[in-house]
Amino acid sequence: MARSLTVLGIETSCDDTAVAIVGDDEAGTEIRANIVQSQLAEHRPYGGVVPEIAARAHLDHVDALVCAALAEAGMRLAEIDAVAAAAGPGLIGGLLVGTMAAKGIAWAAGKPYIAVNHLEAHALTARLSDGVAFPYLLLLVSGGHSQLLVCAGVGRFVELGTTRDDAAGEAFDKTAKLLGLGYPGGPAIERAAAEGDPSRYRLPRPLKGRSGCDFSFSGLKTAVRELVEKSGPLAPPEIADLAAAVEAAICDVLVDRTAHAVAWFARDYPDGKSLAAAGGVAANGSLRRRLAALAAESGLAFVAPPPSLCTDNGAMIAWAGLERLRLGLVDGLEAPVRPRWPLDPAAAARGGEMRRR
Ligand code: KG4
Ligand code: ZN
Repeated sequence: MARSLTVLGIETSCDDTAVAIVGDDEAGTEIRANIVQSQLAEHRPYGGVVPEIAARAHLDHVDALVCAALAEAGMRLAEIDAVAAAAGPGLIGGLLVGTMAAKGIAWAAGKPYIAVNHLEAHALTARLSDGVAFPYLLLLVSGGHSQLLVCAGVGRFVELGTTRDDAAGEAFDKTAKLLGLGYPGGPAIERAAAEGDPSRYRLPRPLKGRSGCDFSFSGLKTAVRELVEKSGPLAPPEIADLAAAVEAAICDVLVDRTAHAVAWFARDYPDGKSLAAAGGVAANGSLRRRLAALAAESGLAFVAPPPSLCTDNGAMIAWAGLERLRLGLVDGLEAPVRPRWPLDPAAAARGGEMRRR
């Protein structure tokens, strides 16, 4: 039987300071503490994340959050088996704060330190929430990344497609800004779209119907900008209709590209049984429903972690650390931060080329 393990995870790669404790034993996996301190109020006046403000805010909060997580779990540091932190990709200031905190705690407590790839943490969340077996197909859509990946094992990812310009979350955030809906744009667009008619405005679906699994969203953003500039100040019903059109266009593109990836996955990984979604955009209800329908048509199980585990959180870092710890994959205290850290370096080296036909 697998040994009982508990890992503390720290996430500071963007604008959320998050600390969690995850345990795993023969009785199952348990999130014993999971605290997210959002910096939204600090960044809102600027309409996006300001890296220096983010780093200072992480520094102000990380120690208190570690203490709060230990208290919530009712644990002492001595009872933790390892300390994990997001070491990249992300904003370097925040990554330094989180990894230095984790290394300091690991050193003081005499525990191993684990440098976690933030994207791997998103990718492995389907195993934390639903225990999905490898290999599975994953749509990873966040504020900084849009990728279709085969998750073949811990540290083993095959990139089928990625974005040629903006990430899906960026497309939500930038169009929400144009509509005056504020930051972060995804939840704001989803709320406004609930009241809107997606058919009133016609928006482009970049790359839809084309071969391959790559994404593109910049044409959509430009179309929304032109529409807004032409129409002048928008009334609330128009904003709702435009938000619904944006949500429908982004979901259409994501589902179309995922359908291509599903066909490829079925051919090359006949033992794969699941389609998973991860990252902040996977919190979107309409996207989840459409991916569930696609999976059902394709004979795959659909796994979407609860929205609170899709957006950035510490539990995913602790869990990725735990998966690595089980395999003996721990790091020295000299391990660097990696602001750029692709999951599939071979694909990243090929650039934004179409990967699969
Ligand atoms: O994974 P995440 O929390 O941070 C990154 O690693 O980027 O993703 C944040 C992104 C933002 O672009 C946000 O607008 C988007 O996820 N997002 C959503 C929703 N909730 C968050 N997009 C669409 N619908 C949502 N409900
Ligand atoms: Zn993220």
